Amino acid sequence: MNEKKSVLIGITGGIAAYKIATLVRLFKKAHWNVIVAMTKNAMEFITPLTFETLSGNPVITDSFERSLPVYGSMEHISLADSIDVFVCAPATGNIIAKAAAGLADDILSTTILALKKETPKIICPAMNVRMYENPATRDNLETLKKRGFIIIEPDAGELACGVEGKGRLPREEVIFAVTERETSGKALSGKKIIVTSGATVESIDPVRYITNHSSGKMGLAVAEECWRLGADVLLISGRDAVPSLTVPQERVTGASEMKEAVLRRLKEKGADLVVMTAAVADYTPEKTESRKIKKGEGGLTLSLKRTPDIISEIKKTSQVPVIGFAAESDNVVEYAREKLKKKGLSLIVANDITQKEGGFRSDFNHCYFVSMEETRELKRMSKRDIAGHLAGEIVLLFNRGR
Ligand SMILES: Cc1cc2nc3c(=O)[nH]c(=O)nc-3n(C[C@H](O)[C@H](O)[C@H](O)COP(=O)(O)O)c2cc1C
Repeated sequence: MNEKKSVLIGITGGIAAYKIATLVRLFKKAHWNVIVAMTKNAMEFITPLTFETLSGNPVITDSFERSLPVYGSMEHISLADSIDVFVCAPATGNIIAKAAAGLADDILSTTILALKKETPKIICPAMNVRMYENPATRDNLETLKKRGFIIIEPDAGELACGVEGKGRLPREEVIFAVTERETSGKALSGKKIIVTSGATVESIDPVRYITNHSSGKMGLAVAEECWRLGADVLLISGRDAVPSLTVPQERVTGASEMKEAVLRRLKEKGADLVVMTAAVADYTPEKTESRKIKKGEGGLTLSLKRTPDIISEIKKTSQVPVIGFAAESDNVVEYAREKLKKKGLSLIVANDITQKEGGFRSDFNHCYFVSMEETRELKRMSKRDIAGHLAGEIVLLFNRGR
């Protein structure tokens, strides 16, 4: 829980200012204390009342307002002292230039200049593509980056001014996720982790295929939690697995393609851990027909062959620790422990697929963490919470050096 974390959101005069209402709600939902500061020009786009209502705190708009000194007699200093993280969104070309030059001519720019060295500072530029690509803005952003500011690149797409290009404010969920990462303590910083997610798809012919019920939600939660804790994460996901807004994701179709993707990544970039959350098909058609199989009068018998065992393939060429997942309907823990030993896994997460609610496609699950030393039962909880517990185990695994 983030009960005591405080974020100062600086809003400047860009058309995307209205989106910050949603951002404030995301922070409040996650129990953050939110303080909003607005420039004079930002108030031309949206009123402070909106943010006062959503944040539950007075909004700072003027450094020389003496009748109501809410955050202290020198608000720029007391604010800079009291917060855990600073987010400027949307950040105009103007505030970026002022921050780079060290200008302090209003409450927001003055507060930026007064921020503590160790306070994470996140800048979310949003502007017309020519303003963004102007060498002045590029240089200013480079200067801020060199000074330790975190710049969230704007998205490309249709801009409010009607042109196409880079300059859109990143999704509110992305800004929130980056803020969570920068204030997490980054217990997995420097660790490279590959996470697989979702179901593989095995083609029978150009129309039909064999797959399973995995949605990719569990893998996504594990990848995003490791990313939040500072790890460098790659998600290798089945074709239809849920997408991530923050973690780089490579898409694959069949089990063989997933194996190739994992081995290629291990070879090219290495990894400190592989988490095999994907539901990889055990069988694939003996032959994939290049033309659609015509419907006949009688039944159809398909001949299936075994798919490659990705964990065994990893173990053939690499010492990287692997965490596995198992979905079982009987003897859940017993089978999981067998798999743990047979495959040389560091840990296995065992799911009981007979449970009435939870499991495939659900946001909830009931599972067991099985290691050589112990079995830990996790009561029914959200996949996000399971991922939180698993990330804790991963931190311990690295601390123990295996
Ligand atoms: C309708 C309108 C939309 C604007 N949108 C943006 C924008 O998206 N990004 C930006 O950098 N400037 C934008 N500007 C220009 C800024 O408002 C202007 O540079 C202003 O001085 C910024 O002040 P501030 O940084 O103190 O808020 C816009 C101006 C107008 C009139």
